[in-house]
Amino acid sequence: MDRISITGGAKLHGSIPISGAKNAALPLMTAALLTDDGVTLDNVPRLSDVTQLLRILSNHGVDHKIAGRLAGQTTETGQTIDLSARQIVDTTAPYELVSRMRASFWVIGPLLARMGLAKVSLPGGCAIGTRPVDLYLQALERLGASIEIEAGYVIAAAPKGLKGAEIFFPKVTVGATHTALMAAVLADGRSVIHNAAREPEVVDLAGLLNKMGARITGAGTATIEIQGVSRLHGARHSVLPDRIETGTYAMAVAMTGGDVVLENARYDLLKSAFDVLQRIGVTVEKQENGVRIARNGAGVSSADVTTQPFPGFPTDLQAQFMALMCKANGVSHIRETIFENRFMHVQELARLGARIKLDGDMAVIEGVKSLTGAQVMATDLRASVAMVIAGLAAEGETVVHRVYHLDRGFEALEKKLQRCGAQVERISD
Ligand code: EPZ
Repeated sequence: MDRISITGGAKLHGSIPISGAKNAALPLMTAALLTDDGVTLDNVPRLSDVTQLLRILSNHGVDHKIAGRLAGQTTETGQTIDLSARQIVDTTAPYELVSRMRASFWVIGPLLARMGLAKVSLPGGCAIGTRPVDLYLQALERLGASIEIEAGYVIAAAPKGLKGAEIFFPKVTVGATHTALMAAVLADGRSVIHNAAREPEVVDLAGLLNKMGARITGAGTATIEIQGVSRLHGARHSVLPDRIETGTYAMAVAMTGGDVVLENARYDLLKSAFDVLQRIGVTVEKQENGVRIARNGAGVSSADVTTQPFPGFPTDLQAQFMALMCKANGVSHIRETIFENRFMHVQELARLGARIKLDGDMAVIEGVKSLTGAQVMATDLRASVAMVIAGLAAEGETVVHRVYHLDRGFEALEKKLQRCGAQVERISD
């Protein structure tokens, strides 16, 4: 199994191209199930989660073609994929496929909307919490589907088609908002989603759906209105830049010191985290085609952060921010409000010499003068990259095991860091 070795101490200088967002690419690809025309997606990141979703989609009958490199594309900046769901041959998403990636559960919305039937394996828990799907199912029931759970599968049926309805989410959920959107676009009549997720990835999905002929307004606000249509057609769409990758590299620069331009990054997608970085002494400068991050290496101040749905501080940057706070001047408090068990990185950061105490949903981090390299392993994608960030500023060598987590969500991680002067290497056995 591959490992990543990091020798800490180098400041980062140069530029890093920001890839298309994994968490936008996955729902956009899933939306291809809604039409028998072709959907072309540009700027799709080269990630194992994307490959896994292609496998799942092809099981339903979706053909795909990955275009050869186009003008202006590099091996670090995504690819173009044509998807065609001319005929859905199977409305079942089996356990073996869904259990590998939670987002594959999202096929339930478009399969049900287009075929009137979907049988999708329950995704199960994961390293960051229990992550139920009750709100997905309530939304689909509101749209007129009957739902049964049988032998670990959700069987959703609407033989006469879905009917527009008012959907009220008691808590903000990205995945259930995606699902409700993909189901309601082909429902008969008008739907309204109340307390919808406002994440940029929801806006990107609504953008593609509207290009396909859907009639959605209000995406990006808490109330989304959908006027159902009888058919969607093909479209072409470019995946929006990855705000979590952007924030991750911004925190790496804050940690090591240096001066890096994050090309294609969008400042407006990450204002909450940039505000915090500025408060602790990091230069964050919006540029024409990106964001410049600079820090003189003198360390950063401590800060208190609470994770929130967008536009708040993202849970997907919590682990990386904790790594940064490990060497901050002072004591920081990080409260995780989205997932109940997203502190698995604490033990691993402690192996590098970090001082962190956990108290329920709160981590208290006492900044230390130095971290020391060690062998570490993380249990999820964002926790793994937090270990890379810590390793960049630790003395000596840090080896991060289970690199397959990183390959799920960070395109060309080691190449992007190497080009800015980091001593990072992938070791394959
Ligand atoms: C998406 O997960 C992202 N995944 C996650 O990123 C991200 O952390 C999360 O949104 C929050 O921003 C993708 O986009 C592929 P939720 P999702 O439904 O949609 C509870 C990463 O590292 N809930 O917004 O699954 C749930 O348990 C990943 O890239 C219910 O209670 O998250 C959680 O506490 C990790 N019932 C909260 O809502 C439900 O039916 C928010 O989860 C659904 C959700």
